[in-house]
Amino acid sequence: MAMASLKASSVATLLLFAVLISLRGLEAQTPPVAPGLSYTFYQTTCPQLQTIIRQQLQTVFNSDIGQAAGLLRLHFHDCFVQGCDGSVLLDGSASGPSEKSAIPNLTLRAQAFVIIENLRRLVHNACNRTVSCADITALAARDAVVLSGGPNYNIPLGRRDGLNFATTNVTLANLPPPFANTTTLLNSLALKGFNPTDVVALSGGHTIGIAHCTSFESRLFPSRDPTMDQTFFNNLRTTCPALNTTNTTFMDIRSPNVFDNRYYVDLMNRQGLFTSDQDLYTDSRTRGIVTNFAINQTLFFQNFVNAMIKMSQLSVLTGTQGEIRANCSRRNGNDLFILPGMEKNDDEKVASY
Ligand code: HEM
Repeated sequence: MAMASLKASSVATLLLFAVLISLRGLEAQTPPVAPGLSYTFYQTTCPQLQTIIRQQLQTVFNSDIGQAAGLLRLHFHDCFVQGCDGSVLLDGSASGPSEKSAIPNLTLRAQAFVIIENLRRLVHNACNRTVSCADITALAARDAVVLSGGPNYNIPLGRRDGLNFATTNVTLANLPPPFANTTTLLNSLALKGFNPTDVVALSGGHTIGIAHCTSFESRLFPSRDPTMDQTFFNNLRTTCPALNTTNTTFMDIRSPNVFDNRYYVDLMNRQGLFTSDQDLYTDSRTRGIVTNFAINQTLFFQNFVNAMIKMSQLSVLTGTQGEIRANCSRRNGNDLFILPGMEKNDDEKVASY
């Protein structure tokens, strides 16, 4: 009898261990929070923050869902260059041309910058100058995903805005070009701590949005890239009849405005737009990941969320580093004396879209 109950209790202990281990496994899925950031950062200083952003973006997207893609890409371009410090938002200055004027950023949507600045005004009107432009950009990207049909998730907050933008060379070195192959992508993203699953998941951002012909025309001219589906090629040649047009096309032909896993189905059908997309299916190291995401949207969403939380914490400024900008496109000048209350009174009206 005593032996039996001893056995039962050790089985129960073993089961408990198994459950704990599997829970730890799940926990390990969520990336660690960077020192200085937290999920409750604005709980007392701006409890309405996330509601303000979500509601305003819902209004924006009701009239143009395409803006969601612009905001998602903006956050990516912010984080990959010098970390998520809002540096991509800065205008150029006497110190040189801004990140904005580097080639990959020329196709960021002008409206995305307007939307971020409008969000900043709304947020600072409600909470004074407590929330950084970098955090607003990160939340806007998250809401772009959610409001396009993607997964909902929390992101750690508390980023501060950088004082300087990166040089053109640093910007170019950190944003992979669309003609990069998988080897280049894996190597360059590994430097930022991303594994191959992260790389494939992040590329799934291309499930929404558009691209200009110039970003993929090297796959159309002088002749079809043999890894591209013939019908897809024919259609793209109609959109881009010659080199160097300003025309655009959707990136995910199956569901261009919905955040889903169809991008991976496109790749399996050789209908990926960029070399950097299509080669993920050609390369044996990433092909299986593409296939898994194509057949299991939940799996894609889980991995996308993890990779986005990682990305959103790249080299963040926290604590007393940097500043909280009073205007997202300009660092606060030394001569700018703004008290939170003054900033509120001094406010301009929210620009219309
Ligand atoms: C992995 C390397 C990546 C490369 C080489 C790349 C390249 C590009 C290029 C060339 C464009 C089109 C620009 C144009 O012609 O207008 C684009 C658009 C876009 N990218 Fe990426 N990208 C990458 C990763 C990402 C990531 C990580 C995200 C977000 C998670 C992302 C989100 C987007 C979105 C949403 C658009 C559409 C923007 C719009 O419609 O305005 N991309 N990307």
